[in-house]
Amino acid sequence: MKPKANIVVVGSINMDMVIQTPKLPVIGETVLGGNYTTVPGGKGANQAVAASRLGAHVVMFGCLGQDPFGRQLLEHLQMEGIVTDPISVLEEYPSGMAFIPVTDTGDNCIVVSPGANMQLTPAHIAQGEDLIKNADVLMVQLEIPIETVKAALTTAKKHNVVTILNPAPAKALSAEIYELTDIITPNETEGMLLAAGDVRQALSPEQIIAGLQRLGVGKALLTRGGDGVAYQTEDGIGFVPACKVEVVDTTAAGDSFNAGLAVGLAEKLSFPDAVRFAVKVSALAVTKPGAQPSLPFRKDVDEFTCIL
Ligand code: RIB
Repeated sequence: MKPKANIVVVGSINMDMVIQTPKLPVIGETVLGGNYTTVPGGKGANQAVAASRLGAHVVMFGCLGQDPFGRQLLEHLQMEGIVTDPISVLEEYPSGMAFIPVTDTGDNCIVVSPGANMQLTPAHIAQGEDLIKNADVLMVQLEIPIETVKAALTTAKKHNVVTILNPAPAKALSAEIYELTDIITPNETEGMLLAAGDVRQALSPEQIIAGLQRLGVGKALLTRGGDGVAYQTEDGIGFVPACKVEVVDTTAAGDSFNAGLAVGLAEKLSFPDAVRFAVKVSALAVTKPGAQPSLPFRKDVDEFTCIL
């Protein structure tokens, strides 16, 4: 029998306002879209829900506002079986929101209003240290204060917990953050920004991974959308192709991938097998609209055959 994965997520919780649009507007342009829907999201919460649906025991650290969205989001996480004790509900701040136009071809762009997410502090991590120390994997992203990211990674490493940093949205990070990171999982744009400080330079996956390696991370992995995943190996680069699926909405593709990777590693799969498992998880996620509504359950992933 597989060991049950024990995952801690430290990150954002947002309500996503999603609007279907024939095209993404360019600067100064107004586009008439369809009706909007509100959908539970946030990179942290998406990763937590995805890991829970894959069968993991999940604890989430985060902050919500004391508003109707905050109540809805907290209830939703609890309904998904996530341990929400380390989530604070704050009177003075609104819950995080994300505004997401999605095109008919499934592409999107996202603007986040972080609200309460920015109130998650190193003190919250210190209070919850006992919940981190027995985890297999800690996942963190960059929609919360960077000092909290550092505190979470430091606490995890103190207890030999594997750390995954999903550097989204990407920004320059300190050497300490890189050194506390066992696995970094940017997409290509994020990888170029971190490795070269510039997204206009066209770098190959090999160059991005080499750049990330030089920054001091344990292992660099690059998600490449329809081109699959590239990752650092002892003697070079490993590639896993994407599964061929009909793309409806790419929102939370990266989040579902990170959750799949964390669960796979916690279940003691080899690194390449954990990546293959995560690729299947994200392939299923892009076939449905919305962030959390699109996240697959374990049974769906186990029954899915990845056609390359
Ligand atoms: O990764 C997708 C997520 O990014 C959305 O759910 C949105 O809330 C933003 O955090």
